[in-house]
Formats: sequence, C-alpha cells, structure tokens
Amino acid sequence: MEQTEVMKPESLDELIEVLHRIFQSDCINIEEVQNIMESYESNPQDWIKFAQFDQYRYTRNLVDEGNGMFNLMILCWGEGHGSSIHDHTNSHCFMKMLQGQLKETLFDWPDDKSKGGMIQKSERILQENKVAYINDSIGLHRVENVSHTEGAVSLHLYSPPFQMCQTFDQRTGHKNAVKMTFWSKYGERTPFETALSRENN
Ligand SMILES: [Fe+2]
Repeated sequence: MEQTEVMKPESLDELIEVLHRIFQSDCINIEEVQNIMESYESNPQDWIKFAQFDQYRYTRNLVDEGNGMFNLMILCWGEGHGSSIHDHTNSHCFMKMLQGQLKETLFDWPDDKSKGGMIQKSERILQENKVAYINDSIGLHRVENVSHTEGAVSLHLYSPPFQMCQTFDQRTGHKNAVKMTFWSKYGERTPFETALSRENN
C-alpha cells in the first residue's frame, strides 16, 4: 500500500498539494486528513482573498476543487451567523478553524419519536486551528458563530463533493432539500443570478 508522507504544510497552498496527494487514493484515512489539516497553522495572508463576508449570513467561498475528489472552501461567519441543522449527503466533512471560534451542536437523525423536536447530543466550541469531522453516520449538526464581537473563518473539505444537502427543523424534525451555492470562487465574487438560492452547510 502506498504510504503518504506526512509533513507539516507551511502554507495553504502546500496543504492543498498534500490533500491532492491523499485524495488520489480511493481509501481515505480520516485521521490522516484530520492531522494534516490540523498541522497547518492558519496564516491570514494565505487565505484572506477567499475570506469574503456578507452582512446578513455566512458565506461559502470555493478555494479548490480537488481534481473532482473533494471541494475545499472557506466559510465566513459574521457575528451571530449560523447554519441550519443539516446533513452531509454521505460525504466526509472536515472543518478547520482559521480564525475565531465556532460552536458545533450535534443532533441525532429525527425518527418517528422526534415529534416533540430533535434530540441534541452534544455541543462544543471549536478553537483556532482545530479540525472537526462529521459524516451522516455520526449525525447532523448546526454550526454557529455565537460571538457578538468577532467574525469567524473556517476551512471545509467535503469528499466526495456535493451540491445538495438536507436541512432540518429543530422543533418538528421535518426536512428540506437545499441547493448550495458559492458566494465566491477562487477569490472572485460569484455573479448574482447564481448566488440567489439559499446557502447551507
Ligand atoms: Fe456541516
């Protein structure tokens, strides 16, 4: 079996190179990806051009398409911005904090017994440079910047890439299919027409 050499990426570009190598294999070692993403020390100079905020809600900004094997994007969360409760369309989801902090709340999938609302499993605060992992067998989550004074920036890797996910109503467990869009791609603002639909995950 081919062994991927693990070394500390000194920049976001180097991290992307390593990720390309890792995802050439069709067998992904979750811990290896988590470790390599964690070992990159966030440097705003590397990612500032992707960090485009909106006043009203968090933004998704495409950084790299991973040769079709993954999508790498930067999410920018203004004060008080948060996601819906959502799933990850059978993909791996890695989330690394580049700046600030985010609160992640985990939920079980709703079932017939969820009529009184969805069950919250746990919550945690993600600190700068830390990497969280989730997939559909772990459950669903909501991500929020609970700070009233600071924005937050996070780096997300989804593999395989996906364009649709499901969002869930916490009170009823009812779900909705949602198409996801990018606020910007490769540092360039996405034309308005394509950025109209709701953004989630
Ligand atoms: Fe997510």
